[in-house]
Amino acid sequence: VRYNAAVNGRRLSRALVPASIRRLRQDLKALREVPERLDWLETLLLEPPERRPERARERWREAAPDVHLTWARSVKGDAFIEKARAHGAFGPGKTIVEVGPGYGRLLEAARRLGVPYERWVGVDLSPHNVAHLTERFPEERFVEGDASTVELDVEADALVSSLTLKHIYPSFEAALTNLAGRLRPGGVAVFDVIEGSRRYFEPDGKTYIRWYTRDELRGICERAGLPDVAFDEVQHDDEPNHRRLLVIARA
Ligand SMILES: C[S@@+](CC[C@H](N)C(=O)[O-])C[C@H]1O[C@@H](n2cnc3c(N)ncnc32)[C@H](O)[C@@H]1O
Repeated sequence: VRYNAAVNGRRLSRALVPASIRRLRQDLKALREVPERLDWLETLLLEPPERRPERARERWREAAPDVHLTWARSVKGDAFIEKARAHGAFGPGKTIVEVGPGYGRLLEAARRLGVPYERWVGVDLSPHNVAHLTERFPEERFVEGDASTVELDVEADALVSSLTLKHIYPSFEAALTNLAGRLRPGGVAVFDVIEGSRRYFEPDGKTYIRWYTRDELRGICERAGLPDVAFDEVQHDDEPNHRRLLVIARA
């Protein structure tokens, strides 16, 4: 409060706000969310657990192809694409399958950076995203569906996914198992997650978020038929908490 008073309530650009003040603001926001979170906890405790996967999916079926898919700001896909390139995801003639392409952040970066690939196939739960992507990238293919159950008639060389697998309830194991089944020999899956061991619905009651430990990730990848697991990290933009654990998994 004193800090705000000191700047006479003027809105400062992010770069001028000290990190300690930004952290304090985030803590205060989290505190304000506590009553709402308790309400949702109660709702979740009272509803049948088998309703939860659908609750988590509903949020994404309604999603629009805009910056609200990426921290409410436009984020370039360059950092992820460069990491995926370094880990061998791209090459001439390769088919890339993306889970949850959203508004096309990764594909836009892949094209702009000129990484080689032949075909890009995106699977997204949101019909709005699929319609937007089909119009924006008419030469690529986008399928409306749930990564856990979609039946893709493609042979993939790489699976990529960013900022998405954390939203699949109760875990992304079924999605990875389903799509790893489409990987050609020598194929690779490259995806990011939040490292840790929390899982919760956000105060909207629909947005599920699960963090993963490295042991959990090794187990999931192994059961999905991709036991050769390596870790890296990807810093999506200049915001320190937009750093994610990158998983690279092969058969
Ligand atoms: C947080 S957004 C991230 C969008 C994009 N990957 C990016 O990084 O800009 C999550 C995206 O995944 C999609 N999604 C969520 N759950 C999914 C599922 N089970 N199967 C396919 N797509 C899903 C959502 O519709 C949304 O487009």
